Amino acid sequence: MGWLEGQVALVTGGTGGIGRAIVHRYVEEGARVAVMARDSVQLAQLQSELGDRVITISGDVSSAADNKAAVAAALEAFGKLDTFVGNAAVFDYFTRLDRIEPEDFEASFQKLFAINVQGYLLGARCSIDALRESRGSMIFTLSNSAFYAGGGGILYVTAKHALVGMIRQLAYELAPDIRVNGVAPGATNTAMKSLEGLSKRSVPLNQIPGFEHNAAEAVPLKSIAEPEDHAGHYVLLASRRNASQTTANIIHSDGGWEVRTHA
Ligand SMILES: NC(=O)c1ccc[n+]([C@@H]2O[C@H](COP(=O)([O-])OP(=O)(O)OC[C@H]3O[C@@H](n4cnc5c(N)ncnc54)[C@H](O)[C@@H]3O)[C@@H](O)[C@H]2O)c1
Repeated sequence: MGWLEGQVALVTGGTGGIGRAIVHRYVEEGARVAVMARDSVQLAQLQSELGDRVITISGDVSSAADNKAAVAAALEAFGKLDTFVGNAAVFDYFTRLDRIEPEDFEASFQKLFAINVQGYLLGARCSIDALRESRGSMIFTLSNSAFYAGGGGILYVTAKHALVGMIRQLAYELAPDIRVNGVAPGATNTAMKSLEGLSKRSVPLNQIPGFEHNAAEAVPLKSIAEPEDHAGHYVLLASRRNASQTTANIIHSDGGWEVRTHA
C-alpha cells in the first residue's frame, strides 16, 4: 500500500525538475495526479509515461481562469481533490536591485510576482472548496531563499520570503478544514528558467558554470540535491495518516543551510 493510495492531487509546474519528481512519486504512492504546466510537449510526454494515473492541463498559473480550469479538470477526471501542490515558479538569475533599471523594475516585479506569488494564491483560491470537502491539504514549494539571502536575486528572494507569510496566513484562515504546509529545497539540479529580459547572461540554473560544485560546497552536507531528494517530504505532508497534526509548517530540504559555516 502506498502512502497516498486513493488520493487525488493537483501539481503545478509538474513537468519541470522538482514538480516532475513529485508527480512521479505521488503516482508511485498510489495517487492520481492532475498536472498543470505551460509546455504542452512536456505535458504530452508525462501523460505517455504515466498513462491514466495522470491528466495534464496546459495553462499559466498567473491566470485565474487557468487555475479554475485545472481544478475543474481534476474534479471531472478523478471526482475529488485531496492535495493542491503549488510549485511552478521562475528564477531571477541572481539579479541584484542595482542591476535593474528603475524604468524596467515594475514590469519585472509584476511578471515574477504574478507567477511566483499570485500563481500560488490563485491555485489555493481555486482549490479551497474541493479541499474543504475532502478535508485535504495544500503544499507549496518554497526555497532556502524563503529564509536566507544570497541564493537568488532581489525579486526571487523577496517573493519566496513572502510565501512564508502566505503559508502561515492560509493555515490560519483555512483551519480546521485544510492543512497548509511547505517544502523549502536548497539548490537542486534542474533547468529552472529565469524571467526573460532580466539578465542578458541568463541560462537555465543547472547550465550555470560551476553551479553544481558551488552549491554543494555552500552547505554542510556537501552535495547538490536531485529533484527526487525532496519528493518524500511532499508525500509525508499530503498523508493524512502521517501528518494529520501538521499545518503552518515548512520542511527544509537544503543540505543544512541553517548551520552552514566557512570551515
Ligand atoms: N532548482 C532549484 O535549485 C530550486 C531550489 C529551491 C526551490 N526551487 C523551487 O522549486 C520549484 C520548481 O522549480 P524547478 O527547479 O523544478 O524548475 P523547473 O523550471 O524545472 O520547473 C518549473 C515548472 O514550472 C512550470 N512553469 C513555470 N512558469 C509557469 C507558469 N507561469 N504557468 C505554469 N507553469 C509554469 C514550468 O513549465 C516547469 O514545469 C519552484 O518553486 C522553485 O522556486 C528550486
